[in-house]
Amino acid sequence: MVVDGKRVFVVRKGGQVFGYVNSCPHVGAPLNLEDDRFLDLFQTSILCANHFALFEIEDGRCVRGPCLGRSLEPFPVEIRDGLVVPKA
Ligand code: FES
Repeated sequence: MVVDGKRVFVVRKGGQVFGYVNSCPHVGAPLNLEDDRFLDLFQTSILCANHFALFEIEDGRCVRGPCLGRSLEPFPVEIRDGLVVPKA
């Protein structure tokens, strides 16, 4: 989805939600090649489908791949009245 001109996505893990700008720190490309597919096979990490970098869901830090140690840009979100919305 696009919010304020930025491509963003949200991942739910348990009762928490984490939002990020959909831009890989490797070359700035969108992470996903298919709509709404942002996780690896095991659903435990965020995957960049371009060169297979893996990112922690909780903080966006790259733990494997060509941008190791760099991080996704956060897009802070919260659950308000049962909806995921940008953090106020
Ligand atoms: S563009 Fe994401 S790992 Fe290369």
